[in-house]
Amino acid sequence: MKASSALLLANLPAALFAAAASISAAEANYNAQRREKVLPGAFETYLDNVQRTGVVLPTYVEDIMHSRDKLPTVGISTSGGGYRASVFGAGVLNALDGRNSSSVRKGTGGLLQTASHLAGLSGGSWLVTSLVQANYPTIQKLVFGDAGHPLDFAGWLLDYSWFDASDNATQQAEYTEELLQELAVKAKHFPISVGDVWGRALARHFTNGTTNATFFANTSHGNSILFSELINLPTLAAYEQPLPIMVIDLDSQHIEGPVFPGGNFIPLNAPMFEYNLFEFGSYDHVVAAHTSLKHLGSTNSTLCATGFDEAMFLSGASSNLFNEANITAATLAEATSDFSTIVNQTYPQSPNLRLDTSNFPNPFFGVAPATFADSGETILAMCDGGSDGQVTPYQPMLVKDRNIDVIIGIDAANDANGFAEGASPMATQERMQLYFQPGLATFPVVPNSTDVFLAQNLTSKPTFFGCTSTAAKTGPLLVYIANGAPPRDGAAPLTNTTTDQSIYTTDELQGMLDQTFVVATQGAEVGDSLEDPEWPACLACAVVDRARNREGTRRSGVCQTCFERYCWGGY
Ligand SMILES: *[C@@H]1O[C@H](CO)[C@@H](O)[C@H](O)[C@H]1NC(C)=O
Ligand SMILES: *[C@@H]1O[C@H](CO)[C@@H](O)[C@H](O)[C@H]1NC(C)=O
Ligand SMILES: *[C@@H]1O[C@H](CO)[C@@H](O)[C@H](O)[C@H]1NC(C)=O
Ligand SMILES: *[C@@H]1O[C@H](CO)[C@@H](O)[C@H](O)[C@H]1NC(C)=O
Ligand SMILES: *[C@@H]1O[C@H](CO)[C@@H](O)[C@H](O)[C@H]1NC(C)=O
Ligand SMILES: *[C@@H]1O[C@H](CO)[C@@H](O)[C@H](O)[C@H]1NC(C)=O
Ligand SMILES: *[C@@H]1O[C@H](CO)[C@@H](O)[C@H](O)[C@H]1NC(C)=O
Ligand SMILES: *[C@@H]1O[C@H](CO)[C@@H](O)[C@H](O)[C@H]1NC(C)=O
Ligand SMILES: *[C@@H]1O[C@H](CO)[C@@H](O)[C@H](O)[C@H]1NC(C)=O
Ligand SMILES: *[C@@H]1O[C@H](CO)[C@@H](O)[C@H](O)[C@H]1NC(C)=O
Ligand SMILES: *[C@@H]1O[C@H](CO)[C@@H](O)[C@H](O)[C@H]1NC(C)=O
Repeated sequence: MKASSALLLANLPAALFAAAASISAAEANYNAQRREKVLPGAFETYLDNVQRTGVVLPTYVEDIMHSRDKLPTVGISTSGGGYRASVFGAGVLNALDGRNSSSVRKGTGGLLQTASHLAGLSGGSWLVTSLVQANYPTIQKLVFGDAGHPLDFAGWLLDYSWFDASDNATQQAEYTEELLQELAVKAKHFPISVGDVWGRALARHFTNGTTNATFFANTSHGNSILFSELINLPTLAAYEQPLPIMVIDLDSQHIEGPVFPGGNFIPLNAPMFEYNLFEFGSYDHVVAAHTSLKHLGSTNSTLCATGFDEAMFLSGASSNLFNEANITAATLAEATSDFSTIVNQTYPQSPNLRLDTSNFPNPFFGVAPATFADSGETILAMCDGGSDGQVTPYQPMLVKDRNIDVIIGIDAANDANGFAEGASPMATQERMQLYFQPGLATFPVVPNSTDVFLAQNLTSKPTFFGCTSTAAKTGPLLVYIANGAPPRDGAAPLTNTTTDQSIYTTDELQGMLDQTFVVATQGAEVGDSLEDPEWPACLACAVVDRARNREGTRRSGVCQTCFERYCWGGY
């Protein structure tokens, strides 16, 4: 193992801990540069692709996409749900990617390039992290690697499971030892838990530094890839990527509240956290504070840590479900064979430290003591970003400063039989209703029962939420694309695998990507046809709809019929 994780202690400017509900100057600059340098061309290309399907769009759609000062702001949120969600999310991004000629021919390709933000959590954060750090390859190259260029990112290597990677007991023992040894440098400065080992295992699948041939080799396996340093990658330096955002939940001992049905122990009133390339923090008004991602690990003005923001440790926190097993000091003492015991034997921790969560030194120690329940904790115990039932990261798109006009919401949660039934947007709606969030835009009204989602086919075809002009004044439109039903042609469904399936064959993955491509490009059933030839136009109508409303223009032509077909709850 190469001890490559750079950890540095020095003096820290006090300004790093400024309380804020607004986005950082660095993010504002990134958004502005992307809008100025990249988005005008991206919208031109996307419009071309839509028009080449032969549809006649109302002139306002063209006008908006051609005018620098009218361009809408598009956000994409992709859900958790293990590899099922990583692959379904990847399949939707592929269908929206202007670099895939099949997507371009369909008329959906090019929308990905117009997005300003891309949020992921849990399995969705694996996809986003992987994509960002590999410098934004096409989805085929991301998932399968690029055989022609052996030095490139080698793909997700799904022949090996996470912790149990080998059937050979000797090799498996060495593998476990290496996972732990890779944490030796970090352990000198920070507490180590199962969350750290999880990050090391995930790194072998989602970051550069591991190939099929070196999977079991004693090398660094992406241990030095820091999320805050990715800004230097060519596509980010040129503002060619949407800004990535990841969501993590706080597993607080101090908070009790209603847990959303289907959520995993974390009540909806627990503050949720996000990180992007620049900051870690929470936009929930009870915290409303951020710290520089580069200095995550620091707790006060005399300690300045760097190197804590290792990419897959953070993504591992966003996908940490080990807290569900309730591994407390008491239960751990009985469970001698538990993985936590091995961790604690290697890096003995204080009796009070939770070993099942991903542990962050609390950058907000002493912040907002009246409202932030964990203000007095030295460690924030973090867990899966979807644990509160909000399995798709919508909230980052509601931050007012981001000015998001339309959210493409990708939902591959397992509500039943590996399919989504709408529980995730329901959870966000409930959270926003119960805990008013002054710094956030309004989430569109969605049904409050999965029965309604099912009865009205809201998960088996794309659905628009928030179409009314009242909704247009207070928040974004939601274009909801769910992994909600088996293929319409009667083929066996491949995309509803279990959340804990960790080994996939190449054929299985390609099959999932191809079925997802159909989900994202077919639209609704129209008459006897399994697909809607106007769907790409309808998607474009949704993309510009808030910009249209700002102009005071009325919906017309194909956009009007599209909204009748795809809107829920009035248009
Ligand atoms: C991995 O390499 C390091 C030296 O870089 C060594 O200390 C360690 O024992 C090796 N681990 C295994 C499992 O061989
Ligand atoms: C990862 O590999 C890709 C090539 O596949 C390269 O373009 C990118 O810069 C690498 N990323 C990092 C963080 O080294
Ligand atoms: C099991 O793994 C060890 C260590 O990598 C290796 O030396 C040995 O040949 C393997 N055994 C088999 C049966 O493949
Ligand atoms: C990786 O190796 C496994 C066997 O260990 C094999 O099944 C798989 O096809 C290989 N994948 C690639 C991309 O070479
Ligand atoms: C700052 O934090 C470090 C690590 O948590 C701790 O050792 C140190 O005593 C703290 N200093 C102050 C002034 O609180
Ligand atoms: C963990 O604790 C929660 C809350 O006390 C409980 O509902 C759940 O069943 C426990 N889970 C396990 C695996 O014991
Ligand atoms: C970890 O080990 C230490 C020292 O051996 C012990 O005091 C502590 O209780 C253990 N932690 C847990 C969570 O069991
Ligand atoms: C996937 O859906 C099919 C029916 O459409 C069902 O038979 C199968 O059990 C589901 N798979 C899982 C893992 O739930
Ligand atoms: C669900 O929403 C409907 C209106 O859309 C409302 O009449 C009903 O009271 C709501 N039910 C619950 C449980 O909130
Ligand atoms: C839902 O879709 C099915 C076909 O899959 C259709 O028979 C039914 O009428 C649709 N229901 C609604 C409310 O659109
Ligand atoms: C485009 O997407 C389709 C559907 O998944 C896939 O079969 C094809 O290989 C992709 N093409 C490229 C160039 O990535």
